[in-house]
Amino acid sequence: MHCTRKITESLTWVGANDRRLAMFEGVYHVPGGVAYNSYLLNDEKTVLFDTVDKSVRQRFLENLEAALGGKKLDYLVVQHMEPDHSAAIAELICLYPEMKIVCNMKTLAFIKQFHVFDVDSRVFIVSENDTLDTGTHTLRFLMAPMVHWPEVMVTYDSTDKILFSADAYGCFGALNGALFADEVDFFKDYIGEARRYYANIVGKYGTQVGSLLGKMAALQIDMICPLHGFVWRKNISSFVSKYEAWSSYAPEESGVMIAYASVYGNTENAAEILAFKLRDRGISCVMYDVSVTPASDIVSESFRWSHLVFASTTYNAGIFVSMEAVINDLVAHNIQNRTVALLENGSWAATSGDLIRDKLSKCRNLRILDNTVSIKSSLKAGQLADIEGLADSIAMTFPGNSEERKDSLSAPDVIDARTMFKLSYGVFVLTVRNGDKDNGCIINTAVQITENPRRISIAVNKSNFTCDMILSTGVFNVSILSEKAPFSIFKRFGFQSGKTADKFDGYEYDDRAENGVRYIPEFTNGVISGKVVNSFDQGSHMLFVADVTQAFVLSGDPSATYQYYFDHIKPKPPASAGPKPGFTCKICGYVFEGASLPDDFICPLCKHGAKDFEKN
Ligand code: FEO
Repeated sequence: MHCTRKITESLTWVGANDRRLAMFEGVYHVPGGVAYNSYLLNDEKTVLFDTVDKSVRQRFLENLEAALGGKKLDYLVVQHMEPDHSAAIAELICLYPEMKIVCNMKTLAFIKQFHVFDVDSRVFIVSENDTLDTGTHTLRFLMAPMVHWPEVMVTYDSTDKILFSADAYGCFGALNGALFADEVDFFKDYIGEARRYYANIVGKYGTQVGSLLGKMAALQIDMICPLHGFVWRKNISSFVSKYEAWSSYAPEESGVMIAYASVYGNTENAAEILAFKLRDRGISCVMYDVSVTPASDIVSESFRWSHLVFASTTYNAGIFVSMEAVINDLVAHNIQNRTVALLENGSWAATSGDLIRDKLSKCRNLRILDNTVSIKSSLKAGQLADIEGLADSIAMTFPGNSEERKDSLSAPDVIDARTMFKLSYGVFVLTVRNGDKDNGCIINTAVQITENPRRISIAVNKSNFTCDMILSTGVFNVSILSEKAPFSIFKRFGFQSGKTADKFDGYEYDDRAENGVRYIPEFTNGVISGKVVNSFDQGSHMLFVADVTQAFVLSGDPSATYQYYFDHIKPKPPASAGPKPGFTCKICGYVFEGASLPDDFICPLCKHGAKDFEKN
């Protein structure tokens, strides 16, 4: 008997669940089963979005037949050729011989690899932004390569604002009657399985997921229909924001995950003492024994927590087997942007710490603490200080716990302008165009202020020519600088005035957003176009509030923060050189070279005035 559910008047879920499967893809345990989603659009033409795994093929075919209600199937859209979604294509051709297969060129090649039927006579090839009218609906196809396989594409129903998202926004777990995420307590009961699905299935491809998110940002999406798990029709942004964090490898939670491998319990004992010491310091901590916790859970938890500790015994002069598998898995899944600490054990030659360090050193932006704790067989009282020291080192890396903070604490009886720089800021190139004149400047004050309507604010120093140009035109682009940005970008846009210089002189790119304003395509990870709806004179700066008219992601590279700029991008003077003659900004360290500082001088970096400079 068929088992289907209506999603909208014209859209029906015709998928099926498998609760007998032990290991999804032969690798990932699925204690709650798995759902294979397929959707039938019943318009003047009928359109099926993907099929299912062979294990549930029979139920799916019954569902489809019932949902068609005697109509023929006109189109099968193949968004993803992995066999858990394409196993029933051959049967469909037998049952609905007039059916056209809608897919892209890469998909066509995969169909021929997996199947032997004649596909060329019934294929309808699409590429980026191609559309298909089905009567009252228009389907638009967007390529999403490597969100999970190279051929993946998603489909946007621009009539009902539904995104058929393929593997994106999927979740492990069978559907237990509830098809919609708002019919369960998703963020309590399912977010762990959604994270585990993301991290293990597409975690390696954060950049590509980021590109899909960029395409989505330009669409109004009222519903998301993925190939696994729940359909989203409410509170979509809450799940999208998880994808934003995961795809950029940003930790979701501040705290420590300790994964340990222990043969006789002594490494576990040391790891557990460390956990208690961390908790003494107010730090959240979770622990997993890698010999019993599946690697997919540890990969998932590594995407969740900000700090990772790996504690491993040495085995056959190497890393303990189950720990080595986890570390290899993490490297393969591209884990990055974490602080890592190590603890090793060895009865005669402890090597696991260095070996883990070596493997993890291939990952991007992992801060691996130097002081590995090394124990011989078991922890002794004399080594408790090492554990305390490691707990201290880890604690110091949490925001607000650094030595710098301890050194700088003083009576808060005056306004210390440096405090403002403890707020976190990004760094951006703000670009404008007025007539034939392109201009830009560096700002650190772009903030999303509302979701609906989607608005941002920027603050721009009134002495900047860019500010005058925005006042004239009301449109601008914000290019978000990534950690790859070189100092030359800051020099070009921040260290000269657009009143006297052409800041784009010699600049090799001329990329423009839809508003006609240039943006910076290199060393940036995203661009937001704004149309001013309000402006406020706030003394030194104009505050502009703007509708977001376009936004797109350019890379998965982490955004540079203002602090990152000072720590890693801004050249440091040679230690022996001593201060340059001139004046140094007390706020940001910018050096003005010259015998006298004009009273109206504005720091090109932090925009503070002459009173915040001191003579060198
Ligand atoms: Fe569920 Fe990548 O397939």
